[in-house]
Amino acid sequence: MNHSPVGPNPRRQWLAAGVALGAAPWLMSACAAPTGAPRAAADGPAAGARSATRRRLGPLEVFPIGLGCQWHPGRHPQAVNDLYASSTDRQAAIALIRRAVDLGVTLFDTAEVYGPFMSEQIVGEALQGRRDRVVVSTKFGMNVDQQTGERRGGLNSRPEHIRRVVEGQLRRLRTDRIDLLYQHRVDPQVPIEDVAGTIKDLVAQGKVLHWGLSEPGLQTIRRAHAVHPLAAIQNEYSMLWRGPEAQVLSICEELGIGFVPWSPLGMGFIAGTISADSRFGEQDFRASVPRFAPDALPSNMPLVDLVRTWARRKNATPAQVSLAWLTARKPWIVPIPGTTNVAHLEENVRAATMTFSAAELAELDAAIAAIPIQGARLPPQVLAGTGVEAPPKR
Ligand SMILES: NC(=O)c1ccc[n+]([C@@H]2O[C@H](COP(=O)([O-])OP(=O)(O)OC[C@H]3O[C@@H](n4cnc5c(N)ncnc54)[C@H](OP(=O)(O)O)[C@@H]3O)[C@@H](O)[C@H]2O)c1
Repeated sequence: MNHSPVGPNPRRQWLAAGVALGAAPWLMSACAAPTGAPRAAADGPAAGARSATRRRLGPLEVFPIGLGCQWHPGRHPQAVNDLYASSTDRQAAIALIRRAVDLGVTLFDTAEVYGPFMSEQIVGEALQGRRDRVVVSTKFGMNVDQQTGERRGGLNSRPEHIRRVVEGQLRRLRTDRIDLLYQHRVDPQVPIEDVAGTIKDLVAQGKVLHWGLSEPGLQTIRRAHAVHPLAAIQNEYSMLWRGPEAQVLSICEELGIGFVPWSPLGMGFIAGTISADSRFGEQDFRASVPRFAPDALPSNMPLVDLVRTWARRKNATPAQVSLAWLTARKPWIVPIPGTTNVAHLEENVRAATMTFSAAELAELDAAIAAIPIQGARLPPQVLAGTGVEAPPKR
């Protein structure tokens, strides 16, 4: 993996399109280990994590830490870029996913629009021969031309479009079923009942096993779940953005829906990779994110200092503290950190065995809450697509 400047076009298109985007029985099943640092093992740097207690996302059972596979084309045909400043190549990305499987990771997250198509193709190739050991999650709902992969802008969750997208996803993922299919963003033109009904049909056909929503409005969660039970909600959630704590997590708990935090490392910020004077190239999505703007960054650095302090205290890394803080909150939370780097993958996987005592967690929570974060979590046009309620079914 190299941290290198990358070709601007795919990411600029992405920015321009503005698309970057109950008391369940399993509640008691995890978080029971004594508090401690991440476990290592003699047979490899992250192998000790394999014994981590599995978690439930609705009916799905997964390893506590997943892998985000959001990759976009780079300057040359084999180049693979993340949304930020990291890049790798196609074969290394495939090897990274296979290493994750070997380490025990089971939840792999991608989307039609990541690339578009490219991330699903890489995930599909990497998981060939390993398909039965993993849970593949992907997303539909962005308006992508099914022939060319061109982003047409906006959203499209019309039932006939969803059905076409799923056919393409099954081909690219080299599988006969999608374990977890999310609507990427709520489509303000399509009642969620129509989306849920389409998913229900796809489930009846065996093409989709479970479904979820990403960044939905609160009533839309309830309406969707009433038509066909949701396995997971996927929203941004981390020490840097605690919005889901206001209402979404309690709805998930009430309805027995799992929760998958995206950008669990705050786009790298709470992994300790950003400093007060960091500046981002225009191809780096963070260049457009207000909380990383030059006037906001210095005010937000105390959160990184706090994570570093806890990392020293727990004999862990900042990324591990950030991930273990999320998994400590509820046993049905499964973060999906993104990485292009095998060492980072191994480090993140080890967070699966890291725990906090109740007293530690209370202390850390209070310290996080005392740090006000300056600047919005997303650019305005992307933020506008979150928390949207689907139109009523007439
Ligand atoms: N539903 C949605 O709308 C939505 C939106 C955004 C993302 N997602 C999903 O969420 C996944 C993760 O989100 P994300 O990639 O945006 O953010 P993230 O996981 O919070 O952060 C990724 C960044 O952290 C760095 N990193 C990872 N592990 C690290 C470690 N141990 N030490 C230091 N740096 C580390 C990565 O760089 P390296 O490559 O150098 O490790 C990368 O720059 C995506 O892959 C995607 O599947 C979903």
